[in-house]
Amino acid sequence: MTDNHPLHEPGHSTRIADPCVIVIFGATGDLTAKKLMPALYNLKREGQLPTSFACVGFARREKTHEVFREEMKTAVSEHSRVKPIEESLWGTFQEQVYYHQSEFDDDSGYEALAKKLKDLDDQLGTRGNRVFYLSTQPSFFTCIVEKLRQHGLIYDTAEEGDHWSRVIIEKPFGHDLQSAHELQKTLMQHLDESQLYRIDHYLGKETVQNILTFRFANSLFESLWNNRYIDHIQITAAEDIGIGTRGKFYEESGLFRDILQNHVMQVMSIVTMEPPVNLNAKSVHDEKVKVLEAVRRLKEEEYDSWAVRGQYGEGFVGGEAVKGYRQEDNVDPNSNMPTFGAIKLMIDNWRWDGVPIYLRAAKRLPKRATEIAVTFKHPPNVLFQQEGHPNEPNVLAIRVQPNEGISLKINCKVPGPSSPIQPVKMDFRYGSFFGMTPPDAYERLICDCMIGDSTLFARDDEVFHSWEIFSPLLDYYDSTPPQDFPNYQAGTWGPKAAEELMARDGRKWRLI
Ligand SMILES: NC(=O)c1ccc[n+]([C@@H]2O[C@H](COP(=O)([O-])OP(=O)(O)OC[C@H]3O[C@@H](n4cnc5c(N)ncnc54)[C@H](OP(=O)(O)O)[C@@H]3O)[C@@H](O)[C@H]2O)c1
Repeated sequence: MTDNHPLHEPGHSTRIADPCVIVIFGATGDLTAKKLMPALYNLKREGQLPTSFACVGFARREKTHEVFREEMKTAVSEHSRVKPIEESLWGTFQEQVYYHQSEFDDDSGYEALAKKLKDLDDQLGTRGNRVFYLSTQPSFFTCIVEKLRQHGLIYDTAEEGDHWSRVIIEKPFGHDLQSAHELQKTLMQHLDESQLYRIDHYLGKETVQNILTFRFANSLFESLWNNRYIDHIQITAAEDIGIGTRGKFYEESGLFRDILQNHVMQVMSIVTMEPPVNLNAKSVHDEKVKVLEAVRRLKEEEYDSWAVRGQYGEGFVGGEAVKGYRQEDNVDPNSNMPTFGAIKLMIDNWRWDGVPIYLRAAKRLPKRATEIAVTFKHPPNVLFQQEGHPNEPNVLAIRVQPNEGISLKINCKVPGPSSPIQPVKMDFRYGSFFGMTPPDAYERLICDCMIGDSTLFARDDEVFHSWEIFSPLLDYYDSTPPQDFPNYQAGTWGPKAAEELMARDGRKWRLI
């Protein structure tokens, strides 16, 4: 898709990062090819990369700079949000891309890296500024950070001033509450919280950022955004794909750790937080933490009625027969790992008292869609009574992906002498209104890190509060294996228990 909006000429951005070198650990991996390198190329295209810039890919396989550049060109051609890539721009960009071969635990590799980065500073004027992107399995985080510190590549914050060093780490941050605390403690021996950027790519999505604008720049909605007018909120993160080649990873994480505990909880905190005093990172994080603290912790006797786990069996998605989870590659044929999760949360504060928040996420549902749906209270059925058709409540749906946009369901009179009422939608779509593809989340987040803005990254206390909510539930799941897995067919909307969870409250999941 080309990007030709007249108000959006590439190269005219006012957000330009500091001169720096970004080192990607895990540069031959899937994430680098699909997201990180396309994001860097598009930042270059948008004029958001500094002229003094270099990217060094760090991984285990032997290869030359030239081979790495060719592989990255193929990856960017395939995955860039703007296609086709511009040959002349790629030519300039690739000269700033290098490859560095080493094992993650090899001291000599870090010595050579330190020398290479120093040479790049001298050649390109990158001034000693560093972003280290840890696109690796979480088990490598500590080792890499320790080695970077030992070899003087992470600076003491007291010495930072003329130059800086920042570390971006991929999710998941810990496997549960205890391991998250342990990871934090170890990392903090080598760097400061201000140098650590925990990426949650949902926060980089335009639509998620727009929740703040939507709520706090429109008095119409913010004045209704509370328990007097809102009946309940549903947040759905549905994927139609299965686990693909990521069986090994998924067998260690599962749906709750992969999506609900981090991405969906981050979105929920933005939807429900109080207005921050300003948009500085600290103010925004403080408000998110307050609302996460106010989320009621589930009691053990509520686990089975307020939360649902599921796993897909074989079925049909998009008309094609697909395998069940237990038949996927690198998956234990008796695995109890959930691929579906739903949970009802209550927030015990003034704004949200009595308003349930329902979260659900899953693999192998009928379609890919991430949506926040705010259902307002039922209008009184006094004036417009229709036999068998109660007036429907207003629903505000924020579509996070795909077809990013916002729609509002309102009731209208059907033209004619009788007055039947019909719900209609007011619809806003980013693509058609702004005439451009929104930047990919990774573009925004990598650029923010280079600028030193951590607003859209998760702070340590946010992660801990989120684990406090999910860790006991996951411990309970570990100690009580499910008896009914697989309990939903691929290509359906999940297990029956998820419908029952809503039915007990007299509600239904939204049809998306
Ligand atoms: N893939 C996604 O769509 C996705 C989405 C969101 C988050 N993430 C997260 O991003 C991270 C990376 O995921 P990925 O899918 O890109 O992983 P991946 O495809 O398995 O890539 C792993 C990378 O690490 C390198 N590596 C592994 N062991 C090494 C060692 N001992 N020394 C040096 N290099 C080593 C590999 O290098 P060689 O190939 O040279 O061995 C490869 O470059 C994970 O934390 C994942 O949870 C991934």
